[in-house]
Amino acid sequence: MYGMINGAMEEMVRMHHGDEAWARIRARAGIDVEVFMSTEAYPDDVTYRLVAAASDELGASRDDVLCAFGEHWITYTASEGYGGLLAANGATLPEFLAELPNFHARVAMIFPALQPPRFACSDVADASLRLHYWTKRRGLAPFVVGLVRGFGRRFGTEVEVRLVESRDAGADHDVFDVRWAPGAAATGAA
Ligand code: HEM
Repeated sequence: MYGMINGAMEEMVRMHHGDEAWARIRARAGIDVEVFMSTEAYPDDVTYRLVAAASDELGASRDDVLCAFGEHWITYTASEGYGGLLAANGATLPEFLAELPNFHARVAMIFPALQPPRFACSDVADASLRLHYWTKRRGLAPFVVGLVRGFGRRFGTEVEVRLVESRDAGADHDVFDVRWAPGAAATGAA
């Protein structure tokens, strides 16, 4: 995955656990890259090793690390110059989710070698929908849970997200039930 992903993980760890924790995680993961270049592609294995090492070092499950990382990703991308891209995708949580299927096509204009996830929405109601997620990668459903929570925070909207169909349990793809506080459609991003 592009170095931006690993750089965001690094920022999250340094911010919440300090520089020494990051040094230990990098060593435990056996990674000798000093600085991740945002626009350079690294093997996916680098990211998975960092998640595993962070989990061991911080005493949190891998799923919890990925979920926290998803939440952090939304603030990270907004602060790294992609705020405009996020803002253009919708001004409320429901709007943003409805437009999510088209989002990474725009990201791919900046990162041409992107191997993006694919999203679709179904069962759209006033305060809920089902979010469908396809990827060639494994084990990233908790990242999506964190991302959706991160949107909730971005839009100041209470949101609940639950994995209801799982590829790990034999489903064709992951499906999330997403529910938000009624009235969120009227709440814009700060
Ligand atoms: C401006 C904001 C964003 C940027 C710049 C961005 C960019 C990226 C990049 C570079 C990757 C690594 C994939 C690769 O290198 O092949 C990635 C992966 C991913 N992105 Fe985004 N992204 C953004 C926002 C989002 C949002 C809003 C979601 C919504 C749920 C999302 C969901 C994911 C997921 C789940 C992956 C993991 C890869 C996979 O599932 O196979 N991203 N994104």
